Formats: sequence, structure tokens, C-alpha cells
Amino acid sequence: MKIITLAFTGASGFPYGLRTLECLLAAGCRVRLVYTQVAQIVAKQELDLTWPSRAADLAELLRAQYGVDAEQLQVFGQQEWFAPMASGSNPGDGMVVVPCTMGALSAIANGASDNLLERAADVMIKERKTLILVPRETPFSAIHLEHMLKLSRLGVVILPPNPGFYHHPKTIEDLVDFVVARILDQLNVPHQLMQRWGE
Ligand SMILES: Cc1cc2nc3c(=O)[nH]c(=O)nc-3n(C[C@H](O)[C@H](O)[C@H](O)COP(=O)(O)O)c2cc1C
Repeated sequence: MKIITLAFTGASGFPYGLRTLECLLAAGCRVRLVYTQVAQIVAKQELDLTWPSRAADLAELLRAQYGVDAEQLQVFGQQEWFAPMASGSNPGDGMVVVPCTMGALSAIANGASDNLLERAADVMIKERKTLILVPRETPFSAIHLEHMLKLSRLGVVILPPNPGFYHHPKTIEDLVDFVVARILDQLNVPHQLMQRWGE
């Protein structure tokens, strides 16, 4: 059973993060979830979802919603320094920040480690584990691009939410699934979200 840290930040694209969560749980992964304050605002703005500020409350809500137990889904606050992924001794198998703000991108690129999300990402880099960022902004400035290049050279996967159109998407869900399929591929988590090219 893979252990994945899933981080939500306050960029547009909450549906990508939510679908990733749903697919990871459906695939039997253990998920360690962390979220920023602005992610809560975006959840409300984009999907009319109310994500409570207390991590324990969100954990209860999501476990009930997805029918999983406390072993499969853990939720941590940004100051929970005893969370496993805060240490290189327990990083799990991979981490995804989806969606990823330019602020979080900058903090990660500069090793800020000022909260659990930033620290967990820093741990993934130093332990040479899979770290995937799904940065959402357009256009990108040279600052954003420099941060992405720096991280890419360190082995971080920069996976912008750019769905292709060659699978003839009919719904928003089809577009979301295109991006989530790429995230799951990077994590080596099996899925049937869309037909593969050439099959
Ligand atoms: C509704 C909403 C949408 C936003 N969309 C983006 C975005 O797409 N990309 C981005 O970099 N910042 C976006 N922001 C701004 C970030 O949320 C802001 O820079 C914040 O400080 C990031 O904090 P966080 O990384 O801790 O979530 C948005 C803010 C709001 C309220």
C-alpha cells in the first residue's frame, strides 16, 4: 500500500486535487493530507465545499465521505510538526501539491520549510523521493519559471494542469481526469481514467 502526501494550496484548480484524493483512496493508497488556509477559500469558491479549519474535523468529514478509516486517511494541520512526513525518517512514497500556488512553489524552491507542507516537500527533495507540483498560474513570470527550472533540475516533477484535447473531452470531468491520470502515472498508481495513446 503506497503512502502519499497530498497537499492542497490556494491556487485555482481545486477539482484536480479532490479528484486526485478520490483516486488515491480508490486505489488503496494511504493518504496524508495537508491544506493551506487559502485552499479552504478556493474549495468554497470553486466547488462550494466547506472544509473546516481544524484538521481533525476535516479528517472526520472526508473519512465519512469516502468510506475510509483513520489508517487510510490522515489529515494534518500546517503546524503539526509530529506528522510523519515532517521527518526524513518517514517520508512515505511520494508527495503531490495540487493545485500548487506560486507562493508554495517559491517556498519549496527556496527550502523555506516554514510550515508542514513546505517541510514535507523539502524532505521529499532531500530524501530523493517523488515530489510532484501542479503549478497553476498564467502567464508564468520569469520568477515562476526560474523556480520551476531549479526544482526540475533537482528531480521534482513539474506537472502543469494542461489537459490535451486529443481524447475528445466532453465534460469538465474529462479534462480533470486527463491531468489526474498524469499525476497517478508519476506515482505509479494504477488507474483507468482514460484510454492510453495507441491502445
Ligand atoms: C480564489 C482564489 C484563487 C487563486 N488562484 C491562484 C492561482 O491560480 N495561482 C496562484 O499562484 N495563486 C492564486 N491565488 C492566490 C494565492 O492563494 C495566494 O498567493 C496565497 O497567499 C497562497 O497561499 P498558499 O500557498 O498558502 O495557499 C488565489 C487566491 C484565491 C482567493
